[in-house]
Amino acid sequence: MLSKLHAVAAVDLYRGEGPISQEELRARISDKEALVCVSTDAIDRIVLDAAPQLKVVANVAVGYDNIDVAHARSRGVVVTNTPDVLTESVADFTWGLILAITRRLAEGERLLRRGDWKGWAFDLLLGSELRGKQLGLIGHGRIGRAVAARAPAFGMRVAYTSQSVADAAAATDDGPARAMSLDRLLITSDVISVHVPLTPATRHLIDKRALARMKRSAFLINTARGSVIDEAALAWALQQHLIAGAALDVYEHEPAVSSELLQLENVLLVPHLASGTTETRSTMAELAIDNVIEVLAGRPPLTPVA
Ligand code: GLV
Repeated sequence: MLSKLHAVAAVDLYRGEGPISQEELRARISDKEALVCVSTDAIDRIVLDAAPQLKVVANVAVGYDNIDVAHARSRGVVVTNTPDVLTESVADFTWGLILAITRRLAEGERLLRRGDWKGWAFDLLLGSELRGKQLGLIGHGRIGRAVAARAPAFGMRVAYTSQSVADAAAATDDGPARAMSLDRLLITSDVISVHVPLTPATRHLIDKRALARMKRSAFLINTARGSVIDEAALAWALQQHLIAGAALDVYEHEPAVSSELLQLENVLLVPHLASGTTETRSTMAELAIDNVIEVLAGRPPLTPVA
């Protein structure tokens, strides 16, 4: 895959362990025209200004909250992401989390590995059924819709809220999924899954107040960005059993996870894996590379950010 890039440009490949330091990144892009980066790279004003010849920043991710897009734009730098190619993979993973938290898979595995399983028991780690219940989607873009498409297989009805649904008065029927206000969605849903990008408007969208609106029997799933949920407030809600459980793939301060969450049984914690299949990651990388090739050739990128 890299050979495509080698054919059109001299490539400087970072091979270090973990994310590149900001200092090294600034030094290495100072004479570059293109940058392929991932969501752990903070492409801020200082980094962008350190690369006067930069034409394109190609993020290997659908989210691009790690990039100062406004500053890039003001400098004439194109920013691209990798939408569509990871939609199905993330939607599958979201359902994996929904099933795992409602059926207590991680709790069961921990119990077994601890050596605490005493044999089959009628009432061992009883979970919650999905059939006949409401899945509430916060965000109804590509990934939210792909998650919704899988709901009939589990007998769930779908409700969603998105930026275009400001209040209950705006609610309309949208095929099998019902649009509603965030407040109504919080009150009526049995499983709530977050599928919005992180922006100033969505930071801590799920705060203490929102968590208190949820059913005590409800589950919260997040495969979007950690900061859409106030992690301290979530730990509090789980400790108080204000909600039944949560399954998280993303965190406010990755790779750190709040010590309160780590101590709780009613939360499933996985390390930002939702798009992580061999197939999807390779398609994502290929799309980012193709975006670079297009821009370097003076053509429009395939998937510029909005
Ligand atoms: C991963 O988190 C992505 O935005 O693709």
